[in-house]
Amino acid sequence: MSFPTYLGNSAFWKTFFTPDRYSYDKIPDLSGKVAIVTGANAGIGYAITVGLASRGAHVIMACRSESKCTKAMAEIRDEIKAKFPDAPKDVQLEFLELDLNDLNKVKAAAETFLSRGLPLHILINNAGIMGTPWRLSADGIEEQFAVNYLATFVFTMGLLDKLKESQPSRIVLVNSVGHEMSVSGGINIDRINDESEGHPSARYGRSKFASMLFMKSLTRRLASEQIYVNSAHPGIVDTEMCRHSADAYGCFLTQIMRLTAKTVAYTPAKGALTPLYCATSPEIEEKAEKDSDVSGIRGKFFIPIANELRPSKLTESVELQEKVWAYTEKLISEKLNKKYDFSTLMAAV
Ligand SMILES: NC(=O)c1ccc[n+]([C@@H]2O[C@H](COP(=O)([O-])OP(=O)(O)OC[C@H]3O[C@@H](n4cnc5c(N)ncnc54)[C@H](OP(=O)(O)O)[C@@H]3O)[C@@H](O)[C@H]2O)c1
Repeated sequence: MSFPTYLGNSAFWKTFFTPDRYSYDKIPDLSGKVAIVTGANAGIGYAITVGLASRGAHVIMACRSESKCTKAMAEIRDEIKAKFPDAPKDVQLEFLELDLNDLNKVKAAAETFLSRGLPLHILINNAGIMGTPWRLSADGIEEQFAVNYLATFVFTMGLLDKLKESQPSRIVLVNSVGHEMSVSGGINIDRINDESEGHPSARYGRSKFASMLFMKSLTRRLASEQIYVNSAHPGIVDTEMCRHSADAYGCFLTQIMRLTAKTVAYTPAKGALTPLYCATSPEIEEKAEKDSDVSGIRGKFFIPIANELRPSKLTESVELQEKVWAYTEKLISEKLNKKYDFSTLMAAV
């Protein structure tokens, strides 16, 4: 496991003393915008959905359980009514079945959305698992890598033409400072399914490290488009994220981790603000980057609340980004039943 260099980065510590850079009242009117939020039934995804729908966005809640999603929808409507008096009366929420554990089902979910004929302005890849014990996904791939990274890759690429057609559009990858606590070297593609490669937290870090590489590669490929791709760390947030920790670390250690987290953790509503900034702030499209010939803020990593942080230096290697992209394309082609149309993936630049 690598030393988390963000701890030595003054920009990280400054965020504790800087006023929050985004808030719910800064979210612009989103009427006419269509957004997909994965894992929208719980935790941060639920709070992101509240934020988007309260400003008029039509939110597609991409979840694996329809019953959990239906329950969350009712709660979201009640919460918006109670907390956002200016919100539209007809809060637009819809369920889309998405199981990230199975790449064929992920591809089918993207196709189901496309068949609806809606535009797509915002895609927030939020769903994820953390610290699960050694397990393989339905496709026989280490579970955290499969769910947090590979499935996100397939879902995003399956929706890319629609995001292009609907631009200006945004893609947000909910990441974590934990990407720095990956296995040694960040990622070793020959050892993805090697059980001795890292413990559960390092494998979580590896999945988020791969997601960061994806964000960088995609940004390069979309340089001529008005599709703004960024990653966001929500903070340490009081959610059910640690639900798998007992399997991996035992109950005692898990209880200590839970209690520690509770004393410092944000509420999901606060944790949602940095992803919401990436998804909705006009600044993302308007702000000119220094020394850059492309418009807006792209390919960046933000930590609470809406402060930029340089991700692990290892993620900046274009060679590594392309190596992992090529590996991912090959792996996905092997796992999908129908031939995957890579024409939208574009050649490396
Ligand atoms: N909480 C934190 O402190 C923290 C810190 C850094 C980053 N993050 C990131 O924030 C994101 C959201 O986490 P959270 O804290 O809100 O966790 P959470 O409360 O556990 O919610 C996770 C969501 O992902 C969904 N999900 C899990 N596996 C799935 C699958 N195979 N297919 C479809 N959906 C699946 C869950 O659905 P079910 O309800 O059906 O399980 C749930 O909706 C994750 O990407 C996480 O890595 C969280």
